[in-house]
This record gives sequence, structure tokens and C-alpha cells, in this order.
Amino acid sequence: MSRSQEYRIGVIPGDGIGHEVVPVALDAVRAAGIAIEEVPFDLGGERYLRTGEVLPDSVLEEIRGLDAVLLGAVGTPDVPPGVLERGLLLRLRFELDLYVNLRPFGSGPGRFNDGVDLVVVRENTEGSYAGEGGFLRHGTPHEIATQGSVNTRFGVERCVRYAFELAATRPRRHLALVHKTNVLTFSGDLWQRTFADVATDFPSVTTAYDHVDAACIHLVQAPDRYDVVVTDNLFGDILTDLAGAVAGGIGRAASGNLNPARTGPSLFEPVHGSAPDIAGTGRADPRAAVISAAMMLEFLGEADAGDRIRKAVVSSDDVTGTTAEVGRAIAERV
Ligand code: NAI
Ligand code: MG
Repeated sequence: MSRSQEYRIGVIPGDGIGHEVVPVALDAVRAAGIAIEEVPFDLGGERYLRTGEVLPDSVLEEIRGLDAVLLGAVGTPDVPPGVLERGLLLRLRFELDLYVNLRPFGSGPGRFNDGVDLVVVRENTEGSYAGEGGFLRHGTPHEIATQGSVNTRFGVERCVRYAFELAATRPRRHLALVHKTNVLTFSGDLWQRTFADVATDFPSVTTAYDHVDAACIHLVQAPDRYDVVVTDNLFGDILTDLAGAVAGGIGRAASGNLNPARTGPSLFEPVHGSAPDIAGTGRADPRAAVISAAMMLEFLGEADAGDRIRKAVVSSDDVTGTTAEVGRAIAERV
């Protein structure tokens, strides 16, 4: 296979099983005949504990110049909550303007809940994750904590538009908005009006609305109700863990943090974390990382390679064994 381009891919294995699943994903990329230059970054809990650094500005600038980033997972038990989430994961999403978090769920043949095939488009730069809020009288009996949710017409519209464009390319051409408009009446109203406005540009896409609590029931009892779902940052975070469990397990849940405007690299990562409970035992399922790498190739325009990797994952669905054994089976089938 001749390739005109070599991609410069930032590789952040991170912590725990990130070190085990990322090499498997890179093997699958190479097996698909894609030339990549790996640019490794030592980031995550291990680096933070060693040096106190989370994401130095110089590293961020280096990442900005890459074609894409593949991340394993970050987090070690000794790092306080929030340090890596805010300082690394969310900072990368905000600074690189990765405004769509794309999370596909397909159970594949022979698996629990056969036939699940849906994609969640989660807004990735606003909502309750934007960091609005603070403490007053911290640590005193009169303490106050506020945590706001930031929703801009601009931010909601670009995410909703992406979801409509995606739905228009899929056979069912259906898009559901998930929110909680009956209680979150300000942000919900903005989302609902924006959704209705953008819908007029996509007459071929049928639409629906579900409250997020009802969506949880539907995802468990009738997941085939959904084709593409668009939702805000917090609802999307929670809903996609549920969707992952419904569609065959967290070891298969992949994601892309996309900058669809392509003003910089997009970042691809499994939905799962660093799994310290199984790290080092060879029991980590590498499929989520491999599918994330396939999404990366598809986003870079290498649709054939992405498709071959996906098919190899499906055809090695029954392979059991260590992370490396599953990885070898996938690479052979690619
Ligand atoms: P987790 O996803 O790491 O683990 C949850 C459970 O799923 C564990 O029992 C684990 O063994 C299992 N699991 C996860 N991935 C698996 C795989 N590929 N194959 C087989 N089993 C798998 O979530 P948890 O335990 O809440 O978090 C552990 C650490 O990871 C924490 O430090 C957390 O902050 C971090 N984390 C990082 C994320 C990221 O980097 N994007 C996302 C979620 C958590
Ligand atoms: Mg999550």
C-alpha cells in the first residue's frame, strides 16, 4: 500500500492500563499500513507525582502542531481528584477546542444486546465542566459552593450542527436531543430552541426529544430507539457510561474529542480510566483503545484503514487471553 502522507501522532499512554492498551492500538494502526511518526508524551499521574507538573505550556504548544493525539488513560490513586481532570483532560479539550465528544456504541454480532448501534455527540467545552463557580467561607460552617453551567448559543449550535450532519450520513437519519428542559429551564430552553433552528437546515433528519432520566430507561430497555443522540457535557458523560455498559462493556467504549473545524489536532481515547485494580495483570481489554485509533484514522481521512481495524475487532470478538494476545489477534486480522 502506498501512502503519500506520514501522520505525526502524539501518544500519551498516561497511567495504569493506558501503558498496556495504547501499544496494541498503535500496532493495529501500523498493521493497517498507515505510516505514523509517534511523538510520545510523558503526562499523567505518574509524572505529576514525580515532578508536580500536569501539562506544561511548552508541551501544550508542541501538541498543537500535531495531526492527532492518542491517549490511554490518566489517573493514579495518590493524585487528588480534579488535578488531572481539570489540569490535563479538560485543559486539552478547552485549549484545543475539542468541542465534540463523539462516542459510538455498537455491540456487534453475538454480544449482549445484539444490534445496539448508536452514537452520542456530547458537547465537550461548556456546561458544568467549564469551571464556573467557587467557594465562599471555605471550610467554615457557613460555607457556600456554587457550580454553574455555561451554555452559549455559539457552543450549543456548533455541537448540535455537528450532530445533525452526522445523523444525515447514517441510514436511519434520526437525531434525539437529550436534556432536562423541565427543570433546567434556562439552559434547556437555549438547547431546545437551537436544536429546532438547526433542524430546519436538515429536512432529511427526523428528530425527537427525551429527558435525560427517561433516556436512561430507554437505553437499558430499548436502546434501538436511538440512532444519534446530542446532549450537554454532564449528561453526555453519565449517559455514555450507561451506553457502554449496555452495548457490551467499558472495554469496548471508544471516543473521539473532535475539533471539527480542524484548527488543531483532535484527541482519541478509550472511555475507560487507568483501571489500577487490574493494571499490570494483562487483563485489560484493548478493544476500546483500538477502536479509538480507528476513529482517529477515519477522522484523518483514512476511512479504509479505519474500517479494516473495526472489522478486525469485530471478527476477533471471541478471542480471549491477555491484552497482548488479543492485540496480536486483532493485528493479524487487520
Ligand atoms: P476505570 O474505567 O479505570 O475502571 C472501572 C472498572 O472497569 C474497573 O473495575 C476496571 O478494572 C474496569 N475496566 C476499565 N477499563 C477496562 C478494560 N479496558 N478492560 C477491562 N476492564 C476494564 O474507572 P475508575 O476505577 O473510576 O478510575 C480509575 C482511575 O482512572 C482514576 O484515577 C480515574 O480518575 C481515572 N479515569 C481516567 C479517565 C481518563 O483518562 N479519560 C476516565 C475515567 C477514569
Ligand atoms: Mg466519564
